[in-house]
Amino acid sequence: MTNTTLKPVLILGGTGKTGRRLAERLAARNIPVRIGSRSASPAFDWTDKSSWTGALDGVSAVYISYYPDIAVPGAAETVEEFARLAVNSGVRRLVLLSGRGEPEAQRAEEMVKATGADWTILRCAWFAQNFSESAFLDGVLAGQISVPAAEIGEPFVDADDIADVAAEVLSNEGHIGELYELTGPRLLTFREAVAEIARGSGRDITFSRVSPEEFKAELEAYGTPADIAWLLDELFVRVLDGRNEHLTDGVRRALGREPKDFSVYVRETAATGVWHVNL
Ligand SMILES: NC(=O)c1ccc[n+]([C@@H]2O[C@H](COP(=O)([O-])OP(=O)(O)OC[C@H]3O[C@@H](n4cnc5c(N)ncnc54)[C@H](OP(=O)(O)O)[C@@H]3O)[C@@H](O)[C@H]2O)c1
Repeated sequence: MTNTTLKPVLILGGTGKTGRRLAERLAARNIPVRIGSRSASPAFDWTDKSSWTGALDGVSAVYISYYPDIAVPGAAETVEEFARLAVNSGVRRLVLLSGRGEPEAQRAEEMVKATGADWTILRCAWFAQNFSESAFLDGVLAGQISVPAAEIGEPFVDADDIADVAAEVLSNEGHIGELYELTGPRLLTFREAVAEIARGSGRDITFSRVSPEEFKAELEAYGTPADIAWLLDELFVRVLDGRNEHLTDGVRRALGREPKDFSVYVRETAATGVWHVNL
């Protein structure tokens, strides 16, 4: 695809952590964008298949970011059904946002490849922005993060890097059939990541490693839906077992530069003030 195309790129999750950034980057390259989310117009909802056709109408490519998580049971089939509909609607270019070391995510990757589309897969580590734009922000603000994360290094990747890679693969030739495994440049345990955020934000934040049973009870007490509780258990207890404790060269291969370090993420995020809200 070249940037002279007038057909928009459909960005699923286009108001979320990576999708919002990708939309900004494509717009800056004068590539038209259509946001795919429940609040967009036309609305796109993963749970309402009747909304899929309208979102796909007349688009040149799709960035597929599944919600709530590509690791949940059944995600692969849903992503496959959507990808097949896209191809049958004439959309050849598909970029899938995936996760590392997650059986369901890797199944979804294989299914997208099998559609015959011109695919690129972005298989990502945990996003640094989970600490500032989603799951762990409340914990940072409350000064207490209690999760069943073992002392295992995770190469947190910055959503800016993911969006840079997605924008590159969607606007330049040469990335079809590539699987980019995207990590940051450094392994950090959750304890170390929280300590860096505490230092950078000037907040007191305690990290406690709780047992999976304590974690489950805490989630129940907060009224967390069962599927989200299952997902967190899957990600912290089963996937965070050392299988992903290594760095990859995906950002360098796709962009020709090194990924952003977690310390830069902390410095930039602290400067936005998001960690200085008083609860
Ligand atoms: N977070 C990580 O660390 C991480 C790591 C690796 C891979 N991933 C993968 O990245 C993907 C996105 O995860 P994320 O945590 O970054 O989420 P996110 O993109 O920040 O999620 C929010 C986005 O999803 C949309 N959304 C919510 N419910 C929806 C629905 N029913 N139908 C359509 N859109 C919906 C929201 O818009 P509306 O509210 O307007 O609908 C918003 O645009 C997941 O598949 C996940 O497995 C995440």
